[in-house]
Amino acid sequence: MTETAIIVGQGYVGLPLAMRAVEAGYDVIGYDVDETRTKALADGTSFVEDISDEQVRDALATGRYRPVASLDGIDRFDIAVITVPTPLHEGVPDLTYIDQAGEQLAPLLTRGATVVLESTTYPGTTQERLAPILEAGSGLTAGVDFHLGYSPERIDPGNKTWTLVNTPKVVSGIDEASLAKVKAFYDQIVETTVPVSSPKEAELTKLLENTFRHVNIALVNELAMFAGDLGINVWEAIDAAATKPFGFMKFTPGPGVGGHCLPVDPSYLSWQVKRSLGQSFRFVELANDVNDHMPDYVVRRLVAALNERGKPVKGSRILLLGVSFKANVGDWRESPSFRVAKLLNELGADLYAADPHVSPDRFPPGCTPVEVTPEELSAADASLLLVDHDAFDKRQLVRHATYILDARNAVPQETNVERL
Ligand SMILES: NC(=O)c1ccc[n+]([C@@H]2O[C@H](COP(=O)([O-])OP(=O)(O)OC[C@H]3O[C@@H](n4cnc5c(N)ncnc54)[C@H](O)[C@@H]3O)[C@@H](O)[C@H]2O)c1
Repeated sequence: MTETAIIVGQGYVGLPLAMRAVEAGYDVIGYDVDETRTKALADGTSFVEDISDEQVRDALATGRYRPVASLDGIDRFDIAVITVPTPLHEGVPDLTYIDQAGEQLAPLLTRGATVVLESTTYPGTTQERLAPILEAGSGLTAGVDFHLGYSPERIDPGNKTWTLVNTPKVVSGIDEASLAKVKAFYDQIVETTVPVSSPKEAELTKLLENTFRHVNIALVNELAMFAGDLGINVWEAIDAAATKPFGFMKFTPGPGVGGHCLPVDPSYLSWQVKRSLGQSFRFVELANDVNDHMPDYVVRRLVAALNERGKPVKGSRILLLGVSFKANVGDWRESPSFRVAKLLNELGADLYAADPHVSPDRFPPGCTPVEVTPEELSAADASLLLVDHDAFDKRQLVRHATYILDARNAVPQETNVERL
């Protein structure tokens, strides 16, 4: 008999998983409280760049993919995977979406069913927070009547090399039977599963990965600021260091960190360390401090460059190239471009922005959306390259721009270009 999988949340993580589960032969209910999303999906339209409309239509055509905005009328599932947001509010983890997902799934739980949490969260969430919610709403006992586990998502939007399928996936369960069920499910979804001994290790794995990235980006960002003042080319030093075949991993400076992971996840860990042990996770706090201040540094550099050219920021026409949080994606959440735009707005700049991946109604407030044309480039007193989208023709930028501050080391280094 075909097994039923409910994927709770049809966003960047949930939609690719739902598509894969359909391919693996499951009867998939793609549940999302956002009705505009489920309606678009039911019409065969994807809003996640890594999933094409065609993939959604193929899934619908199997008759085994049902995007729904309510679980009414669904009475059971074999496996449910929770992929809902886990934001921070004023530095404190907000787990209300996970709580709600648990409350919604609990009445549908039956003996032998499995629930897996994928949302990024602090260690202990699956066992100490989700299990009691599922038990209270179902009258069943985790580990006795139903299986429960945690498997962190490693999806990297826009990455064509490492996909959901070929990126190894860490899996865990609250007991041996749960681990076996969770592993068996993901063995059909991805090529390699990596079992760990309990959900806490799996939860920490995800936070460790993102904290590692966050800290190393902060390291090169701080270095970039010092090297600039010392008159040393940090980019060249990083490239040279990266020729070492062992013991070094390349990270590059930028205008700050964005997206759903780096600005948020490490703080889940530092919050838990503070709450449980009363101690500060100093690496995370330092990295937050450095990365959070990068937009200020970028603006300072731009102000200095305009000053050098005898121009005040007030009234200067400034073109932001890229507003998403990283190259070749349309995800603008937590993007440092918003802080850069805010600071420049406060200084009275006349702001324009171009990003082929982001809908103009999502641009930072105060930015007039434009296309990148020779006219726009030469009309701007300064252009600020914040995102290294492939769609930007780097030679065209250099040819027509008056001045470029390149925060990504992406354009040829001509006399009208300065790097971070
Ligand atoms: N985006 C990434 O690259 C990425 C990578 C790894 C891990 N994660 C983690 O995965 C989780 C989900 O992230 P995302 O980027 O997919 O978020 P998203 O915002 O793209 O998608 C989450 C979806 O869940 C829906 N939702 C919220 N509450 C719900 C509920 N109770 N029932 C049903 N649907 C509900 C929202 O409407 C939204 O569409 C987060 O914890 C995130 O940190 C994200």
